[in-house]
Amino acid sequence: MSLSERIKKLAGLGSATSNDVNRAKVIAVAAQKGGVGKTTTAVNLALAMAKFQDLKTLLVDLDGQGHVAASLASITPDIIGASLSDILLGHGRSISEIVHPTQVTNLSVTASDKGLAATEGILSGRIGKEFLLRGTIKQARSDFDVILLDCPPNLGNLTLNAMAAADYCLVPCDMSPLSLAGVSDLLVVVETVQDRLGHDLKVLGILPTRVDRRNWRVTEHVLNELAELYGELVFDNHIPINSFLARAQIKGVPVFDLDPSGNGATAYKELAGEVLQRIKAAN
Ligand SMILES: Nc1ncnc2c1ncn2[C@@H]1O[C@H](COP(=O)(O)OP(=O)(O)OP(=O)(O)O)[C@@H](O)[C@H]1O
Ligand SMILES: [Mg+2]
Repeated sequence: MSLSERIKKLAGLGSATSNDVNRAKVIAVAAQKGGVGKTTTAVNLALAMAKFQDLKTLLVDLDGQGHVAASLASITPDIIGASLSDILLGHGRSISEIVHPTQVTNLSVTASDKGLAATEGILSGRIGKEFLLRGTIKQARSDFDVILLDCPPNLGNLTLNAMAAADYCLVPCDMSPLSLAGVSDLLVVVETVQDRLGHDLKVLGILPTRVDRRNWRVTEHVLNELAELYGELVFDNHIPINSFLARAQIKGVPVFDLDPSGNGATAYKELAGEVLQRIKAAN
């Protein structure tokens, strides 16, 4: 397959798509490498979709580190009760029991679940293990416009479940050669999900993150490689290094409140618009 044919297939161009506007679009934010900005992207994209695009948005934390809840601590109530593990392990819970509204209109989150890493291990022995999340997410599709899945930093069972549940995959890539190599590995998994699981998963885009103009030589190298290898799959919007994004995560406060007109907030606000344009173009 030629490079341009491969890019077209990954983007889902030419494949049949659903026109059912009442169903949420589900986007998995996934990358093989840790620390590339998956959670920062999932959290700020979810906030931007809810605040600026007026879309009913659900953010699902698939990572046992609990970083989504920490990032949104100031706007999320303390949550106890059922967890995603209960659902994945078949303990008879439904998604509505783990979805909680936040103080931001239109934004709900799932409870964080420190047991997810252990759950992932248990799942590996189960038949149909790739599809456990899919049924759960399906129940929530009619209640939301957008569902974002924040994946853990590996290509294990939970990331595979996210991909099998999602319509689109969004791949953050920071400006390091290791991250670049990780994109290639992730796209192979997307192709496996398309071919072996027969699931119509599209790559929504590859998102350059932590773009650092002060370290331009390495940054330029990674950006050029991304453009050369993945062409139109790379988002036009890039996320700059911005200390307010990191501070917002530590404080548990939305960056749109902490530094509303800063580079980081603006980049994620604009990314939300580009994401919606790409979804429209694919349907
Ligand atoms: N654009 C940015 N500018 C400055 N700091 C950032 C930016 N994006 C992310 N960070 C910081 O980098 C660290 C890693 O980001 P984040 O938690 O989003 O990555 P991750 O891919 O979800 O990590 P993990 O693999 O551990 O889940 C965090 O401290 C975060 O605040
Ligand atoms: Mg994370």
